[in-house]
Amino acid sequence: MHWLTVHLILTLITYSLSGQATAQSRYDLVNAAESGDSLRGTLVSRSTASPELGPDLLYLKLDAIGRGSDTIHIKITDPSSTRWEVPLTLYPSSNNHKGGGAANATLKLEWAPSPFSISAKREEEKEKSGPPLFSTLGHELIFKDQYLQLTTSVPEDAVIYGLGERTSSSGLPLLRNMSYTMWNRDRPSLFPDENLYGSHPFIMIVQPDGSTHGILLFSSNAMDVNVSHDAVQYRVVGGMLDVYCFAGPTPDLVMEQYTRVIGRPTVPPFWSLGFHQCKYGYKSLAEVAAVVENYTAAEIPLEAIWTDIDYMSGFRDFTFNEDRWPQKPFKEWVQKLHDSNIAWVPIVDPGIMVDPEYDAYNKGLAADIFIKEGSGEPYKGQVWPGPTHWPDFIHPDTQDYWQQQLEAFHDLAAFDGLWIDMNEASNFIEDPIAPSDGKRPFALTRSTFLGSGQYVSHWTGDNAATWNDLRWSVSSILSSGLHGIPHVGADICGFTGFTTEELCNRWILLGAFYPFARDHSDFNWGYQELYRWPSVQEAGKKALGLRYRLLPHMYTAFQRAHEQGTPVARPLFYHWPADEHAHKAHGQFLLGHDILITPVLTEGATNVTGYFPQGVWHALWNGSADIDASKGGKHQTLNTPLGETNVHVRGGSVLSMQEAALTTAAVRASPLSLLVALPSLEELQALEGRHMHQAQLIAEGSLYVDDGVTLEDKWHMLHFAAYQVESAEGISGFLQIRGPAEQGNRGCSEVNHTLASVQVRGWQHPVSLVQVHAHQPPLAEHQVLTRAVELPSPRALQWQHQGSDLTVSGIDAHLSCSSSVSVEWGSGTAYA
Ligand code: NOJ
Repeated sequence: MHWLTVHLILTLITYSLSGQATAQSRYDLVNAAESGDSLRGTLVSRSTASPELGPDLLYLKLDAIGRGSDTIHIKITDPSSTRWEVPLTLYPSSNNHKGGGAANATLKLEWAPSPFSISAKREEEKEKSGPPLFSTLGHELIFKDQYLQLTTSVPEDAVIYGLGERTSSSGLPLLRNMSYTMWNRDRPSLFPDENLYGSHPFIMIVQPDGSTHGILLFSSNAMDVNVSHDAVQYRVVGGMLDVYCFAGPTPDLVMEQYTRVIGRPTVPPFWSLGFHQCKYGYKSLAEVAAVVENYTAAEIPLEAIWTDIDYMSGFRDFTFNEDRWPQKPFKEWVQKLHDSNIAWVPIVDPGIMVDPEYDAYNKGLAADIFIKEGSGEPYKGQVWPGPTHWPDFIHPDTQDYWQQQLEAFHDLAAFDGLWIDMNEASNFIEDPIAPSDGKRPFALTRSTFLGSGQYVSHWTGDNAATWNDLRWSVSSILSSGLHGIPHVGADICGFTGFTTEELCNRWILLGAFYPFARDHSDFNWGYQELYRWPSVQEAGKKALGLRYRLLPHMYTAFQRAHEQGTPVARPLFYHWPADEHAHKAHGQFLLGHDILITPVLTEGATNVTGYFPQGVWHALWNGSADIDASKGGKHQTLNTPLGETNVHVRGGSVLSMQEAALTTAAVRASPLSLLVALPSLEELQALEGRHMHQAQLIAEGSLYVDDGVTLEDKWHMLHFAAYQVESAEGISGFLQIRGPAEQGNRGCSEVNHTLASVQVRGWQHPVSLVQVHAHQPPLAEHQVLTRAVELPSPRALQWQHQGSDLTVSGIDAHLSCSSSVSVEWGSGTAYA
């Protein structure tokens, strides 16, 4: 008799004699082999669980592998047959990224053979009695053909995030004693607390002391995730149990570890960060052309005009309705748009109409790439065009087929990006747009899964023009970022239903700061372009004006997302995980590390109460108040009449800004200005009197520079650091701009900025001298004092010191990749 069989019989006898049936694993681990941070072995079933769900698998293969010190990967599956597994070809870049840095925690496995349990603890916490980060101890493990159950303990006092995609009516944290269902479906996002277009079985767990870890179930099968007071239980209808535990110990490090597995977000093309206008129901080319003209006349930024399925002939992809959207004039119009630096983005649904007269249908049949029934016939469904087949996007020949269709379509009219809708059935179209100049693609998708952010941008689907939807959009956006899809937005002014002037006004004041900003409305409802109401036009101009000025900052945040997985729009807890109020600030978010958005989200309200974590927050929106929370985070009520919002910049940061303009091309051509936002007076005073002539760091920031459009790995990062220094003459400050510590594999970008001005917010000391230096040789990292050899024309340089605001203009310093420029102010001389 085989040893496994003997073991099984013995354990079954023992189990039935003991008569115990407490919740515990029904498997034993045999033949365990431990080496380094890995554990392998066979799980043997000791008794049957829930027989009504089918027979248990008697033997399972266990592989628990340490992936770098901060991640543990546990895989449990059937050793004797192939089961569905998420295709790893969709994750070409995963695990290639750097990680496991010094700050990362180290995980250790603990396990028991009978009944089998497995846990992961941070090494430094192993001796402490604290809860493990992942533990199946005391929980049932069930593995049947179509029912898999895995449970891990979670601390009762932790806040848990994740399990998108859903519109949450209760804010970003998950609720306890709640079941979260996951499978992708076409369910309008206006319905809160239900599963929607995407599935992301990932959770981030934040304990009261701020220590954070993550758990990912790498599965595309439908599942329920039950979140109870002390456990998270996955109930999955197939596949395997493929679990990752990420050690953190900060939210930022969990994101780095998680996106190392699912792939890091792509950096969207610069232009796609501009403002987009769309509508389902534009009637003709003439109508849509007039929309563009109206935007220009109203002087509201417009970067891209979108066309919905209206332009197609009978809703067939890659075709034009010749009556109202004739192809030739359309192509000419697109060329005119391009001449004005405006992009065109059409919708292309994945469903192909079943029509023997239709080229895309015939080619799809010939290539044999449509999803099939069990019978071998192409599966026939029904979407906009009527009878429809869907390409199988993981079929090896589909890429070629789709590519050919898109290339032919691009010849008909040169689209700049694609909008992929109705794709809950098929996902992950790798590099769907490859225009002939081989440019960075832009594709907006409705359906998403783990790792979609590697390829696409996302919008939250069919919301409604209601105040609830406005409010809920904040956590939907933040949730997408935590799932590795940072370029995300909700339909501004609301998709379904008639919007109102007040709602649209408040929505653009919020939506202008979504990472992806698009106004879109449904077929049956009214028009809601920003120029339709004078008050919305004004709000749009002001809010988008500030967005466009902040584009360099926002774009830098996208690069950080690409490098480390950090979301662009971040919940407050992300940087203040141990602050309980930060977990409850449901209506606010950070843009990058340093900008805090506090919008009005309630009808009729003219003020809003926001939470300001510890620090000093300088108002960036004209008319808003600065907030001093240096003694501790605080709630503050801000007067915010219609047409206004609140945007604050964190003291201690250096923000890069360009000029407001109607297109991103004009923004990119404009000079750079830097805003040095200083910490509180107390913090600055604490630095004084330390060491004469020794520079103390008071603010820092960085700027990512590339050409914004190509995929070429040529880029660099400029670093800004502001210091305060004391000398016999008094206190002075200086801002250093240093060439790259980081650059692309193919070197620096050839794009150079011109620094026009520096604004210092919070400078309380006298200013009697302002100088600009260019340093030769360039400053080394951390080097703060050097000989200044070049000054710009003193006549051009101007400065103004009002209250605690110092503005230096006329700088005109060229910032190349290896630049070393500094701007100095105060009453002493910082430089030798
Ligand atoms: C559903 C999408 O969610 C919506 O944005 C679009 O307008 C319609 N389909 C029509 O294409």
